[in-house]
Amino acid sequence: MKTPNMLEAKKRTNNKVNILYDEYKITNDMKIGKNKTYHIKTYGCQMNEHDTEMMCAMLEEMGYTKCDEMEEADVILLNTCAIRENAHNKVFGMLGRIKHLREKRPNIIVGLCGCMAQEEVVIDEIKNKLKWLDLVFGTHNIHRLPVLLNEVSRKKEQEIEVYSKEGDIIENLPYIRDNKFKSWVNIMYGCDKFCTYCIVPYTRGKQRSRKHEDIVREVENLIKDGVVEITLLGQNVNAYGKDLYENYGMENLLEDVAKTGIQRIKFVTSHPWDFTDKMIEIINKYDNVLPFIHLPVQSGSDRILKLMGRRYTKESYLTLFSKMREQIRNVSITTDIIVGFPGETEEDFNETLKLYEQCKFDLAYTFIYSPRVGTPAAKMKDDVSEDEKKERLARLNEKVNKYALESNKKLLNKTVSVLIEGISEKDENILTGYTDTNKLINVVGNKENIGKIVNVKVCDAKTWSLDGIIE
Ligand code: SAH
Ligand code: SF4
Ligand code: F3S
Repeated sequence: MKTPNMLEAKKRTNNKVNILYDEYKITNDMKIGKNKTYHIKTYGCQMNEHDTEMMCAMLEEMGYTKCDEMEEADVILLNTCAIRENAHNKVFGMLGRIKHLREKRPNIIVGLCGCMAQEEVVIDEIKNKLKWLDLVFGTHNIHRLPVLLNEVSRKKEQEIEVYSKEGDIIENLPYIRDNKFKSWVNIMYGCDKFCTYCIVPYTRGKQRSRKHEDIVREVENLIKDGVVEITLLGQNVNAYGKDLYENYGMENLLEDVAKTGIQRIKFVTSHPWDFTDKMIEIINKYDNVLPFIHLPVQSGSDRILKLMGRRYTKESYLTLFSKMREQIRNVSITTDIIVGFPGETEEDFNETLKLYEQCKFDLAYTFIYSPRVGTPAAKMKDDVSEDEKKERLARLNEKVNKYALESNKKLLNKTVSVLIEGISEKDENILTGYTDTNKLINVVGNKENIGKIVNVKVCDAKTWSLDGIIE
């Protein structure tokens, strides 16, 4: 048994990161999944979605097949998220359901992985109250899934293997893409920013950039495989390379990826701290780098930003924001905001509303602050009532909706570039896709356009989506 430790998870040393190319192997005796099925539930961010794609590939290499119904699967995995309390609650609720299932079908194997597995409090709870859970592994050892599953199915006793370490880079893990035309591409792992409210630096380890040649090779292979759009993934993509190179950063990587000729490139998430003018230049220089930037601001109050450890001010955020709006044609900028951070006053919150009015974001993801055990903010005095926090969130969301609609309405009767991804779940005569500014659009047009980038005339604009017709 190997369990996590928050103090260990916090450590950052100058030790060299190991880049391991041959760590993942499946031997014939590990292929225990013949005639068996698996089901994975995924919570949290794009990193987790992409990790799930990797686990799917490993399980299929072991012989398992995917099963859409959890109730019928032989192996059930929950790939969890620790970012807020409600993410936790959802998982524990689901485990309650699965426990009943296991009573009826004692031979199924149930596992928990992802960011919650990296939390000491969660592992303590599992050891005390969830003894029936078969397997727990963390974010650093996903590649060990086949080995661990083999052990569990042989031994039939709880297996917990979670490492609290700065982390290695495991190259050459297979993955099965959820979407034929789009792919996530990890460019870095972990985070060293340690924003005071955030659990990610503890659950994902130290910032580790992949080598640029490994990333470019992956993109070239995706092109060969028919992929049209990639999203470069990292908690803090603008800091790419800082841990690995003297003179090679996100600007260089973006340029090298753009030169591969892949049709569309997105990147998330950008921390305002590391966003350079050169980045703006590259976005403008290459047509395949989309004019879409997710730039979380978190708060509009300098006092709160300081307490959050974000290391920028409202002023410097606004300067960067205006530069993007002025210099990148048709750019769409979205953000994340936390309300009810410990000690946030009405005045602080009004600063956030004011900033929102100024920026008129194309969209925002808004959250009520949730204390995470082990983070500095969890120890700060929090005297804002839950009702007050909810009320602030509602007031903020009113603005989010207003400006999201306004942003969409600007596109009415305009022609936009859309990657058609598939058929709408609600109406089989309608296609769906995303514009180059990352807006969801329902499209009337021929199914032959699926997987293609086409021009679409926008004929209706709603808060969350657009409607259009292929030209
Ligand atoms: N790396 C990204 C964010 C990753 S987490 C960045 O720095 O922008 C996604 C969002 O969850 C964050 O932007 C933040 O708005 C929110 N979040 C993180 N920790 C939170 C917490 N403890 N309570 C509420 N929201 C939180
Ligand atoms: Fe969390 Fe801050 Fe890192 Fe984003 S940059 S993952 S909010 S610590
Ligand atoms: Fe959640 Fe972990 Fe992502 S905490 S948001 S799944 S990095």
